[in-house]
Amino acid sequence: MNESIIFANASQVVTCAGPGRARRGKELGDARILTDAAVAVDEGRIAGVAPLAELRTRFPSAREIDCRRGVLTPGLVDSHTHGIFGRPRYDEQELRAAGMDYMEIARRGGGIHSSVRDLRQRPEDDLFALAKPRLERLAAFGTTTVEVKSGYGLTLDDELKTLRVIARLQEVLPLRIVPTFLGAHEIPLEYRESSARRQEYVDLVIHEMIPAVASARLARFADVFCETGVYTVDESRAILTAARNAGLMLKLHADELTSSGGAELAASLGAVSADHLAAVSDAGIAALGHASTVATLLPGTMLFLGKTKHAPARKLIEAGVPVALATDFNPGTSPTPNLPLVLMLGVSQLHLSVAEALLGATVNGAAAVGLADSVGQISEGFSADLALFDVQDLREVPYWYGDNRCVASFVMGKPCHTSDLGVF
Ligand code: NIG
Ligand code: FE
Repeated sequence: MNESIIFANASQVVTCAGPGRARRGKELGDARILTDAAVAVDEGRIAGVAPLAELRTRFPSAREIDCRRGVLTPGLVDSHTHGIFGRPRYDEQELRAAGMDYMEIARRGGGIHSSVRDLRQRPEDDLFALAKPRLERLAAFGTTTVEVKSGYGLTLDDELKTLRVIARLQEVLPLRIVPTFLGAHEIPLEYRESSARRQEYVDLVIHEMIPAVASARLARFADVFCETGVYTVDESRAILTAARNAGLMLKLHADELTSSGGAELAASLGAVSADHLAAVSDAGIAALGHASTVATLLPGTMLFLGKTKHAPARKLIEAGVPVALATDFNPGTSPTPNLPLVLMLGVSQLHLSVAEALLGATVNGAAAVGLADSVGQISEGFSADLALFDVQDLREVPYWYGDNRCVASFVMGKPCHTSDLGVF
């Protein structure tokens, strides 16, 4: 039996209500905040957003959850993570501090290559045991939907192993998980000796990995790290075209460190999202402005890498591009599970308003994982994915930065995370 629930006594219900699609321009600036509203949930869906007395009449047998004057928001959507890895790469942090940059570390066999060596020698159960508490940490900060990429295996077996771990996590965790195949995260070291060998790996991704992943239904998206020194635009196009033909939706790591035409490629392929974009060109911005692609910005990555350059969020918004914010949770460039911290960076570094930042991690995050019609807003008919913060005003969520004010979260009305403070 599926009970009804009323979430009562929130100081604010931040609904983000509106069309079930990515928001752009002025639409991004309106979080639709209600005071004196309660939220009814029935059968795992939002059944009403109205004054408490009215909902009590409509749902007389509902159990009530007292939000204790906290702020209720849609569950946060972290639309870009690399959550399946072994050893954390804290050693690289000091190398960078001493002046060696991210790509130089990779050229010396560190970076992604180091995570690949590590993941390949771990059994599936070991990876599962490492990933589960890490994803629970993401949930602890209010995330209820998380996209998780493979990409530290880079062999058919190791990529499938990673994607099976993601599928098993979905079975045991209340979080909603969206799996992405990122077999083109790096050119593995053993394929780097010649351009013929390099092409062999691209062919392996296209002709063996993508068909195997698609037929086992282990991923919804495919992604490529399109970057100078990693995958070229032509290689990325070939891989993503094959993925699309196999029924996968598309994402692209685009223009993260250098401007190499990634945004233009994502737009031309109709990718669901183009991610990073710290180095996007004006032509790339214009291309995205004419496409349906969501620009997923990851300011935590730039912060952690010690870069001062950030994605031109305001220019993207002015060009009509829907902007999302995500953690990029990964062992090399952004080990934070804290999406509210990324909202703070959205405001302080990308010059977003609080509403724009929140919509970037709710409605537009949902759009970036193809779920904007059912997730990311507190509106009737949407999935009852909610996050409750121990603050009285939405603007406090990105204000108390680094702190964790999330006291509870719910997916389809069922508890996803509860803090020590919560009695939910
Ligand atoms: O999004 N850019 C490529 N991938 C990750 C980094 C992965 C790593 O360094 O392990 C990113 O920043
Ligand atoms: Fe990434």
